[in-house]
Amino acid sequence: MANKKINVDLSDSFEKIPVKIFATPQLGSQFVAIEIANLIKEKQRKGEDCILGLATGSTPISLYAELVRMHQQEGLSFKNVITFNLDEYYPLQRKALQSYSSFMHRHLFNHIDIDPENIHIPNGELPKEDVKKHCLKYEQLIEAVGGIDLQILGIGNNGHIGFNEPGSSIFSKTRMVTLDNITRIANAYEFQNISQVPRMAVTMGISTILKAKKILLMAWGMKAPIVAKAAEGFVTEQVPASILQQHNDCTFVIDETASTELTRIKSPWLTGECEWTPQMIKRAVIQMALKTKKPILSLTSHDYNENGLGDLLAEKGEAYEINLQVYYMLRDSITGWPGGKPNAIIPAHPERSEPHPKRCVIFSPHPDDDIISMGGTFMRLHDQGHEVHVGYQTSGNIAVTDEFVTRFLDFAVGFEDLFGIDNQKTKQVLTEAANFLAGKKPNQLDTDEIRAIKGLIRRCEAKATCRYIGLKDENCHFLNLPFYETGAVEKKPMSEADVEITMAFLRKIKPHQIYCAGDLADPHGTHKVCLDVVFESMRRIKAAGDKWVKDCWVWLYKGAWQEWDIADIEMAIPMSPDQIVKKRFGIFIHQSQKDMVPFQGSDSREFWQRAEDRNLNTAKLYADLGLTKYAAMEAFVRWHY
Ligand code: F6R
Repeated sequence: MANKKINVDLSDSFEKIPVKIFATPQLGSQFVAIEIANLIKEKQRKGEDCILGLATGSTPISLYAELVRMHQQEGLSFKNVITFNLDEYYPLQRKALQSYSSFMHRHLFNHIDIDPENIHIPNGELPKEDVKKHCLKYEQLIEAVGGIDLQILGIGNNGHIGFNEPGSSIFSKTRMVTLDNITRIANAYEFQNISQVPRMAVTMGISTILKAKKILLMAWGMKAPIVAKAAEGFVTEQVPASILQQHNDCTFVIDETASTELTRIKSPWLTGECEWTPQMIKRAVIQMALKTKKPILSLTSHDYNENGLGDLLAEKGEAYEINLQVYYMLRDSITGWPGGKPNAIIPAHPERSEPHPKRCVIFSPHPDDDIISMGGTFMRLHDQGHEVHVGYQTSGNIAVTDEFVTRFLDFAVGFEDLFGIDNQKTKQVLTEAANFLAGKKPNQLDTDEIRAIKGLIRRCEAKATCRYIGLKDENCHFLNLPFYETGAVEKKPMSEADVEITMAFLRKIKPHQIYCAGDLADPHGTHKVCLDVVFESMRRIKAAGDKWVKDCWVWLYKGAWQEWDIADIEMAIPMSPDQIVKKRFGIFIHQSQKDMVPFQGSDSREFWQRAEDRNLNTAKLYADLGLTKYAAMEAFVRWHY
């Protein structure tokens, strides 16, 4: 293991590992793919084998897609490549859909010219007594081929690398481990159900990983907190990835979202000079106020100097003037009129007062995101006389439990019985569905009929919520975007059809306002695709010169998983205690999502609790900063296109 630092200029950051930030995961993956391809070719020229250490999980999927493309379109050959995967679940059959062996073949090996003999993946199907010997042999095999030239890593939210969970020794080698509960919950989406996630795994050890000549760790999206901890924090076995600080050639390759907790991004004034734009001042002052637990208007010059903001003070003068500037920015983001206040001229108001009423489109990625994420604003828009339309982007059919299907079919049969309607066909559908579900294997895809029924259940819930708000049925639009309809957790990428459906819908309504989920932290990526579809549709409509588009403003809300940073919020809509309760009941209408949903993620709170906690917290943050204390608030950021 080497412990010398490489010659990278880290002087303007707090990072102890070089971090390369890319605009998107695709660009980051392309960078890593080029590194791999160059290494393979260099080794080819020398007549040597190229030894790669590979990872699984959601992170490297786009990397493998790029390598496959390079093989198919650019003739990159993998004939001289020998691979060692980091880990495998235990116990699990290689052939199982969820095994890392299946994953690797599905995403990479089946599509390239690697010699199958050169593929090594820890074996998760051996009897327990043989695992130790297998692990020893795995280590010997790596050494026999001269060690790993390039190791690819992902990172768990708890900082694990491979399946080396917090507490793993720096000296650990390939071995059997028990999975952390956080990991089992995070990976439950691969298995449909947490109880099916194996409790153990076979993984390369930390010392095995550190022996690699070069390491590239990739991280996208919601990994920001753990990336910052690993790259900037102390080296500790409690955050296994932080041990990579002791390697002499390790780089983190991350996207912008995963970079947001790095000091140079979050608080750039602490790592060197920065340009004091109004937004940067707002961020710096809000962070200082929250850290010192003082309202904005109580911050003093002493606070500025003590918190690394002496430069700002020197440049802008009086603390009180800066405080006022930030206070007004926060104050002006608050409004009870999300569609603009009619007949009022308020220059700093987040929305225009004209035209009034407006045509508003709320895009809801799943059938309940509208009410969960912006239920209070939804109600206000309708109550204040705007013409509100909801575009439900996906059917959401995958997140309905099987029990719901038989329950509703039972209802359909009973309903027809009650009114003497011929129910031969319904009974047949019920029997077939019940038979299928009784023998359904873990992870088996539903039949088309069952998926359609699950979609219908969610559609009825969405319609009921819209009626509850006061919308007419014709204002609920079910777009059923095709990218979602795989029947499985893994979705197709955005396609032409998704964009065409969305453009046609927008051109029909010609909205003045659009709300959509600006969510990059959706665990399964659906929200992100839904957002990309809206962005692409708007860009194309604008390029085509449709007149209405220049008067259309796009507001982004966050989905169920997190909230905007308080400093980024451009429109905050207060909610009264009554509105909080009304929103809660609106969320309850989505009965198929109550209590236990198939894709809960690592947060065990129900959706209404997450929504409420988050809205209460936003109101509390505003109050802590010295603004009026509302019961709750929903928050939006504007997208300029
Ligand atoms: C996978 C592995 C894990 C993952 C990590 C991140 O072979 O060893 O350490 O890299 O759990 O998983 P994703 O990429 O799914 O977030």
